[in-house]
Amino acid sequence: MSLHLLTECNAATMAADPDNPLGLVEDAAIVWDDADGLIRWVGPQTRLPKHWRQGAQCHQGSGGWVMPGLIDCHTHLVYGGARSQEFAMRLHGASYEDIARAGGGIVSTVRATRQASADELLTQSLHRLDAMLAEGVTTIEIKSGYGLDATHERKCLQVARQLARLRAVDVQTTFLGAHALPPESAGQSDAHIDAVLAMLPELHRLGLVDAVDVFCERIAFDLTQTERVFQAAKGLGLPLKLHAEQLSDMGGASLAARYGALSCDHLEWLSPAGAQAMASAGTVAVLLPGAFYFLRETRLPPIALLRELGVPIALATDCNPGSSPCTSLLLMLSMGCTLFRLTPEEALLGVSRHAAGALGLRDRGSLAPGLRADLAIWQIDHPNDLCYQFGQRPLVRTVQAGRWRASAEALIAPTFAGASHE
Ligand code: NIG
Ligand code: FE
Repeated sequence: MSLHLLTECNAATMAADPDNPLGLVEDAAIVWDDADGLIRWVGPQTRLPKHWRQGAQCHQGSGGWVMPGLIDCHTHLVYGGARSQEFAMRLHGASYEDIARAGGGIVSTVRATRQASADELLTQSLHRLDAMLAEGVTTIEIKSGYGLDATHERKCLQVARQLARLRAVDVQTTFLGAHALPPESAGQSDAHIDAVLAMLPELHRLGLVDAVDVFCERIAFDLTQTERVFQAAKGLGLPLKLHAEQLSDMGGASLAARYGALSCDHLEWLSPAGAQAMASAGTVAVLLPGAFYFLRETRLPPIALLRELGVPIALATDCNPGSSPCTSLLLMLSMGCTLFRLTPEEALLGVSRHAAGALGLRDRGSLAPGLRADLAIWQIDHPNDLCYQFGQRPLVRTVQAGRWRASAEALIAPTFAGASHE
């Protein structure tokens, strides 16, 4: 066992406190144990009990801010190919839905993903993952949904698991077999749902599924089909998520809330009834400003209503080749505030505590004794700087599950006195 003590820093614990929404602690100390990867103590340095100093490896934070490692709770990180051609088509006037209906869109990525070997997918995905890690991400959710048959869904989920073995990051996998109709099922959406229901138990048995998601939309699956998938997932005890009300109000959020879903994601067309249902069920609203921006949407999610009803709000990249080819969760903080008018507090909670909630993870997302020592240390004057600045990367170091992440991040922050041990 090895205790670590970080001082000469400030902390934003994100612990729930209405009077101090970011849990700001100036001149803080934080103690963690790298054996179990858990936080032992956090608070003002002047109140640090003496015994925590004994035998601890000491680190100085050079006045930086310690925050929970960032959580990207909605990505489609593992995919083959790219869709810059479709981007060009959209600039020539085609819409995202036009392209999808003409056999492009998600299906074109399905073709590229099926053609790619697992190694090729891994290499391509690692580049994207590394960009996220360089911004302090310590937990990432990765959805399948570009394989759409048993072989290729398994391949993508295995690549997602492999990423977690290659990098210091926790990967939560979500099975999104009901993302689109694969070419072989064109015009037969019920048959594809049958196939999805057939794939799920085996993928679950292989330990590849942490949650189940559906794209409930005019260009994807309807409410009845969504409910079939929910029932099967529920039968296996798997948590649910939903791509809901992105392009139209399908009533997906109410259905998901009825099934106790962890989150509903996108939500530009969310109705008051849907928002109310989410509030009653405690379902997290995951907002995806990257997709809103990239698809040049104009209809905003009903932020004021979500706020009024107390629906927890999370923010994520939605990293994918069609609607949000972006790896920057920091940019989502900026967009969440500028495009969606979230407050900096809401945005920051959206990539920490509420992002953990969207994944059903109670052991992270804030800093407190007994929670995971997933830390991001920033050279900033105040946590709000992470929302205010964009295109910058003031990350100094990251600790993941109690261990300093060895990376080039150390090289870009020479002012940080840093860790004495890797
Ligand atoms: O979350 N909405 C559905 N799925 C993705 C887009 C996928 C794609 O276009 O490849 C999303 O926006
Ligand atoms: Fe998505």
